[in-house]
Amino acid sequence: MSLSFEGRVVLVTGAGGGLGREYALAFAERGAAVIVNDLGADTKGGGKSSAAADKVVEEIKAKGGKAVANYESVEDGEKLIQTALDTFGRIDVVVNNAGILRDRSFARTSDLDWDLIQRVHLRGSFLVTRAAWNHMKNQKFGRIIMTASAAGIYGNFGQANYSAAKLGMLGLSNTLAIEGRKYNIHCNTIAPVAGSRLTETVMPPDLVASLKPEYVAPLVLWLCHEECKENGGLFEVGAGWMGKLRWERSQGQTVRQKNQPMTPEAVRDQWDAICDFTDATKPTSIQESLQSMVSVLSQVESDEEVGANPTAAAASAGSTSGINPAEAVGQKLPPTTFSFNHVQCVLYALGVGMSTRDPDHLRFLYEGHQDFGCLPTFGVIPSQAAMMEGGLSSVPGLNIDMTRVLHGEQYLELYKPLPTSGKLTSEATIADVLDKGSGAIILLDVNTFNGDELVCYNQFSVFVVGAGGFGGKRTSEKAKAALPPPNRAPDAVVIDSTTRDQAALYRLSGDWNPLHIDPDFAAMGGFKAPILHGLCSFGFAARHVLKQFADNDPARFKAIKVRFVKPVMPGQSLQTEMWKEGNRIHIQCKVKETDAVVLAGAYVDLHGSSEASPENVPQGGGLQSELVFAEIGRRIKDSGSELVKKVNAVFGWEITKGGESSAQWTIDLKNGTGSLHKGPYSGKADVTFTVADEDFMEVVQGKLNPQKAFFSGKLKVRGNIMLSQKLEVILKDYAKL
Ligand code: NAI
Repeated sequence: MSLSFEGRVVLVTGAGGGLGREYALAFAERGAAVIVNDLGADTKGGGKSSAAADKVVEEIKAKGGKAVANYESVEDGEKLIQTALDTFGRIDVVVNNAGILRDRSFARTSDLDWDLIQRVHLRGSFLVTRAAWNHMKNQKFGRIIMTASAAGIYGNFGQANYSAAKLGMLGLSNTLAIEGRKYNIHCNTIAPVAGSRLTETVMPPDLVASLKPEYVAPLVLWLCHEECKENGGLFEVGAGWMGKLRWERSQGQTVRQKNQPMTPEAVRDQWDAICDFTDATKPTSIQESLQSMVSVLSQVESDEEVGANPTAAAASAGSTSGINPAEAVGQKLPPTTFSFNHVQCVLYALGVGMSTRDPDHLRFLYEGHQDFGCLPTFGVIPSQAAMMEGGLSSVPGLNIDMTRVLHGEQYLELYKPLPTSGKLTSEATIADVLDKGSGAIILLDVNTFNGDELVCYNQFSVFVVGAGGFGGKRTSEKAKAALPPPNRAPDAVVIDSTTRDQAALYRLSGDWNPLHIDPDFAAMGGFKAPILHGLCSFGFAARHVLKQFADNDPARFKAIKVRFVKPVMPGQSLQTEMWKEGNRIHIQCKVKETDAVVLAGAYVDLHGSSEASPENVPQGGGLQSELVFAEIGRRIKDSGSELVKKVNAVFGWEITKGGESSAQWTIDLKNGTGSLHKGPYSGKADVTFTVADEDFMEVVQGKLNPQKAFFSGKLKVRGNIMLSQKLEVILKDYAKL
């Protein structure tokens, strides 16, 4: 089908000659009503004449097309759009093309040379586009072209002013592409090459003649058509050729080490690695760009935690990039612990859509219920810390970009019903690494223990986009395979709506990725709005099976496997289709509104009959932190005055247990020879920490880094936060406790 612009209204700025004229003619020929704007200036921006625009309008009309002339400068952006609205009643496409040159070597560039160029190219494009923006937004359609130049992309002698303006337009386009996406407003940038009066002074005449503007126009038309989904692109185009440009970033190098000053010498010494483009990445959003940088923060931290032995840390920092299965498979991640009580169990149940509307759900929502228990799929929560804390990228042989990681599949098997409180420890191992060409799959096996007892096993199947091609195997006997459902109509179908706030609620169970809550962040990831967590839909599907085939009895739940296919938007309805084959219930989950499959190849395995009901792990009696404070008290007695000199601050502690305040302590290392108080304190603490008893112990034993505890919300700080740095002086000796 040919591309028609019938019914579309197109503004081309600077359309009295050169490229703009060609665009205007081409749009009109395909049915568009065209506003032919041109000031009729000379190449340096001087003079003014209506002749140029009039001539093009006449040409279009002579061929039976629709066009109107506008003689304003692009610096009067509103007036250009007003002509479109007055004459044709709307505006669909803006091609920012008007331009002038004032080439000078940099030293001779005057203020006027600089300002005029910025005003016409960059400011003009801004003003015209802004005037059109709300109209495009309201009609949920718009196409915008910015005209950059190779001079901006690569630099060109004598064009400092022009280069700056032209690449400024690319920056403008990049952001408009993001802000416009949800309104179907697309903005793309071209860097054309064509013979015109602007180039006739720099190109030989035969080249000017042969690089025709009509070799550029078809790209502009395609980018402006409603069928074209391209947005935020940059294209070089000329002579009938065109190509797309993007940013490439070297793998780069972390030149900072924990607790050591970062120096220019370190930058110098690693310069070759910093600039080495082997295995370069191609970030496409600010979020991708930032994430990999921010992950360095925790990498630098953990380097030291793991590598008490500095040579190990240095070796890993210097290791080559890419995936090496021989090195990675079998590697263990540092164990993680998860302390919880009924609050987390209930919050999770609400997160996966349980409601008091259904009396059957009360056993998962009310801790006082005689059968109170934890939903079986809560088993993914204690184990996900291994994934969340970015541990994967620190595994030797797994040099991966964490921003390119997708959660592909999940398997969970329970060996016992989950406790409703306690402390679980998870140990994660790289079970296998597969090469799928377009990416790598990492199979992460996580065993979760309650004391010495194995409670559950998870297999995370993680897809790393772009990390394939390392010559590895494509399948693994270790993978828990997804299985297709039987070829018949489902035996049962449950339809359940998620709420608008489902993701906002689910994330409170510990997946803090802003993708699920922050619209801007989601837009940067290419989504119209924040998406629901895959593991939330997984929880919905599992409880549908539990209700339909196991009487809501968690003890009958054995295992679940799902493959995540597509995202779900909060507020959509989930339709779980179920097929019973003995004790295996095959499932497929769709979004009811769109019929799109979101969970595929999925199944739940059940135990034959109801066995034991979920057990409660009794909560420990006294506070473990008491011991530490007792020891601190002894130290203050022994060497209080020395500590007062070093620290000079009063620290308040609020120790919680089961979410409630259980003890208060004040360590006064400011007054007299220091003192320790239990309970309310008459003076004022400089800084007060609130932390759960278990987490306090983790911090004291050096298992939980205080900074991480703070960022994950486990450690709350009131008052002078800087003083927390001095905590080390008081706490560091207690690792032996
Ligand atoms: P051109 O000089 O033939 O066309 C530019 C038109 O813009 C002229 O008709 C001029 O009267 C008009 N104009 C100037 N200032 C204006 C203002 N304030 N308001 C309204 N109209 C104004 O030049 P050409 O080559 O067709 O260039 C079109 C665009 O492509 C320009 O933005 C130029 O910088 C860009 N470009 C062209 C290249 C080429 O090889 N021709 C190379 C790279 C970029």
